[in-house]
Amino acid sequence: MPSRLASSVLLAVVTLATASHSAKIANDYDQPSSAWYQPDDHPVHALFKRGHVAVDATMSYPEVGSAQWRAGYPAAEAPTETLPKAWVDRLNAAVTAGKIPNIPQSILTQGVAPTYPEGYDPNNSTVCSSTYKCITPGDIWDAPTGKLALSFDDGPLPASTALLQFLAKNKQKATHFFIGTNILNNPQVFKTAFNDNKDDIAVHTWTHPYMTSKSNEQVLGELGWTMEIIHNSTGGRIPKYWRPPYGDSDMRVRAIAKEVFGLTTVIWNQDTNDWSLSEPVPLTTSTEIHANMTQWLTGPKTPGLVILEHELSNASVQSFIDAYPMMTSNKWNVVSLAALDGGASYQNAYDSSAPVAAANVGDLNVKAPAAPASSSTTQASKPSGTTAGKPKAAQRNGGSYNEPVTFVSVGVTLFSVLLGIYSL
Ligand SMILES: *[C@@H]1O[C@H](CO)[C@@H](O)[C@H](O)[C@H]1NC(C)=O
Ligand SMILES: *[C@@H]1O[C@H](CO)[C@@H](O)[C@H](O)[C@H]1NC(C)=O
Ligand SMILES: *[C@@H]1O[C@H](CO)[C@@H](O)[C@H](O)[C@H]1NC(C)=O
Ligand SMILES: *[C@@H]1O[C@H](CO)[C@@H](O)[C@H](O)[C@H]1NC(C)=O
Ligand SMILES: *[C@@H]1O[C@H](CO)[C@@H](O)[C@H](O)[C@H]1NC(C)=O
Repeated sequence: MPSRLASSVLLAVVTLATASHSAKIANDYDQPSSAWYQPDDHPVHALFKRGHVAVDATMSYPEVGSAQWRAGYPAAEAPTETLPKAWVDRLNAAVTAGKIPNIPQSILTQGVAPTYPEGYDPNNSTVCSSTYKCITPGDIWDAPTGKLALSFDDGPLPASTALLQFLAKNKQKATHFFIGTNILNNPQVFKTAFNDNKDDIAVHTWTHPYMTSKSNEQVLGELGWTMEIIHNSTGGRIPKYWRPPYGDSDMRVRAIAKEVFGLTTVIWNQDTNDWSLSEPVPLTTSTEIHANMTQWLTGPKTPGLVILEHELSNASVQSFIDAYPMMTSNKWNVVSLAALDGGASYQNAYDSSAPVAAANVGDLNVKAPAAPASSSTTQASKPSGTTAGKPKAAQRNGGSYNEPVTFVSVGVTLFSVLLGIYSL
């Protein structure tokens, strides 16, 4: 089966990609002074302040990129022993309440998709692995008719800069599924995306693992620390969406994301394979991506498009830039993915410039304040250089789109609905 073969090759290269990811990460953080004592503002003093603290709207956070900002986060995969108690308590309560399906972790073997122990069918509704294209209502695979939900994975990275410049020049908003450790290592690029472009920031885990292969507590750390660094670097905004690395999620992982952190899982309905362009053995070429894009962008408008793209390399960014004119000329309504339903981009804020309802990561009772009056009337009153084009802003703010996303994807052969176990 060619598709099976392709996915084996993909997984093999993915493993290479993971290794070379870290090599590509530039570190623009300067180490603090080498004095033997630790002054009061030294990061070590913040190390143990990981508890649940009262937050309010006037809360200020350390400058993104500063030693104090960086101090509280794990440098690599998070130890499960030092997870904030509030998150662990929430997880345990959800497990006790039967909200986290008790299915085993997947097993990783070089070169093939994650597998499950004997007796667990990844395609059935109990496991429902998105790697096997099992779709569950509540996850996002498709966009509403006519919309192209724009998003980029794996940043912030040096290659993001050209993307952000292009987006700003075109007054185009996008969602960035950022990797937590890349935020830690590239704070200036992060600031450009959030402070300057005012783009939407979403979660792509702390260290980019196959999430189904991780324990409940490891899943907690991968999601939680990424939410925490985004929260503390965006004036307290709580992300609303996450995308599993390699699209690998299942009922257990998506339940932890939803029940503990209020996160909605986002996959895609078209894949460029652009991440592989900078690999030793690319799975595609810029020419093939352009041909794929041409087909998708001139094709049917139902369902809308969720195209998997990466801000990983010059070539992957360039393939988006080359396709962008077709997105607009074919009259797609190009919106930031986090705004695809016309609602708020964060759990507690309408977007990256609107007011924030103060809340901690894991606070599921919080609601986003309504769209600011200025943005619901004219887009001209929004900060310049940050909003999408007029028709998009009007549609996004018009409140006309309220129905749930379409879950039946044209290219997906298996549709599995889970009844009773997982509620939206
Ligand atoms: C995030 O910000 C809160 C509120 O200022 C603070 O208590 C917490 O320690 C910060 N988290 C990290 C990891 O620095
Ligand atoms: C799915 O697989 C599990 C584990 O083998 C089994 O208990 C369950 O009955 C299956 N569900 C369906 C709907 O086939
Ligand atoms: C899309 O790209 C893949 C390779 O990544 C290629 O096999 C396929 O034929 C392309 N489809 C179109 C319509 O060009
Ligand atoms: C990628 O590199 C090429 C060749 O140096 C350059 O022309 C192009 O502008 C670059 N694209 C981006 C997005 O940086
Ligand atoms: C799961 O479904 C996909 C798509 O229908 C199919 O290709 C695959 O073989 C199935 N896997 C299993 C383990 O049944």
